[in-house]
Amino acid sequence: MLDVSRLRAETPGCAHVVHLNAAGAALPSRRTLDATLDHLRLEAEIGGYEAAAKAHGELEGFYPSVARLIGAEADEIAFVENATRAWDLAFYSLDFKPGDRILTCVSEYSSNYISYLQVARKTGAEIVVVPDDSYGQIDLAALERSIDPRAKLISISHVPTQGGLVQPAEAVGRIANAAGVPYLLDACQSVGQLPVDVGAIGCDFLSVTGRKYLRGPRGTGFLYARRATTAHIEPILLDNHAAKWTGDNEYTVRADARRFENWERYFAGVIGLKVAVDQANELGMAAIWARLRALADGLRARLAALKGVTLTDLGQAKGGIVTFAVAGADHAGLRDALRRQGINVTVSTQYSSRLDLKGRGLKDVMRASVHVYNTEEELDRFVDAVAAAHSAA
Ligand SMILES: Cc1ncc(COP(=O)(O)O)c(C=O)c1O
Repeated sequence: MLDVSRLRAETPGCAHVVHLNAAGAALPSRRTLDATLDHLRLEAEIGGYEAAAKAHGELEGFYPSVARLIGAEADEIAFVENATRAWDLAFYSLDFKPGDRILTCVSEYSSNYISYLQVARKTGAEIVVVPDDSYGQIDLAALERSIDPRAKLISISHVPTQGGLVQPAEAVGRIANAAGVPYLLDACQSVGQLPVDVGAIGCDFLSVTGRKYLRGPRGTGFLYARRATTAHIEPILLDNHAAKWTGDNEYTVRADARRFENWERYFAGVIGLKVAVDQANELGMAAIWARLRALADGLRARLAALKGVTLTDLGQAKGGIVTFAVAGADHAGLRDALRRQGINVTVSTQYSSRLDLKGRGLKDVMRASVHVYNTEEELDRFVDAVAAAHSAA
């Protein structure tokens, strides 16, 4: 059981807003905020390089902290500025040839899909969208049938941006591993929300952002690269941190996952994200996941009772992202009206997941995403505000 009063007291934003936007950027704790600000202050006071030298221990501590969270080894982690770039670094480092197939899912995130389209155009590789099963999850039997010598990559998002769906990442991993097909998992919305164990999932790469369910600072994220299967992959981008200029015409790429990093980075963010990850480890991902599911299930039940509201979440086991449509409402207008009342939610549009939302005939959906600091009272206030806005319309 989590001590919610304490969590709220340690989260400055809880005093100001009803924040139902963890899937956009969650509220950080005071500990994370202070650690980030302290390092920025230190940089201003003694110089950026000198501050990094002084904070060496904390900066190095980032890797084991993240590794512990996802069941990896410290040398399998790279700090990257966000989930998209982390994912890009893995994806664009793979070598695609004409006829190679990229297997993905219907609910795939827009940025990833744009990259598939770009690589397909440039290389002649093909994109195969594996259909959903009756729950709206990737159809595992169809995925298995799609495996043949042309399958070059299985690449899906664990939790999509536009709903409570949790893809069966472990079952996908079993299929990928059995077939020897590399597996790239976009875990941007899942790490920090639910227990993620890269060993159990069997992914080769996994990309994560700091600001969402991990409650870290913006401009932070990481890439996991499984040592046993990716050590031979040279990053698409190299600098003098990722590689050493060892001869006039020679360079040597470092062996650990930090070969995917830049030399220059947001050091205060590394420290802030480390603290946020430590907090997730301390609270325990099982406890966080249980609380998020309880809050989200309660919110779904309340919303389902409202006239004109349709829940739009897919999946067998739904998580902390709650989406819904309000009949006849302009969702963006409703979001703005709620924000004026101090209630933060967002709208997911087809621009973030075209195949899924368009396929379901949804132009956009309201998205309310909970985190551990949210309360039942806040959910009541939010649902009352939605009901009032709807009846006034
Ligand atoms: C599934 C998914 N992948 C990737 C991203 C991109 O993350 P970032 O903005 O940190 O690059 C998002 C952001 O909403 C997302 O929902």
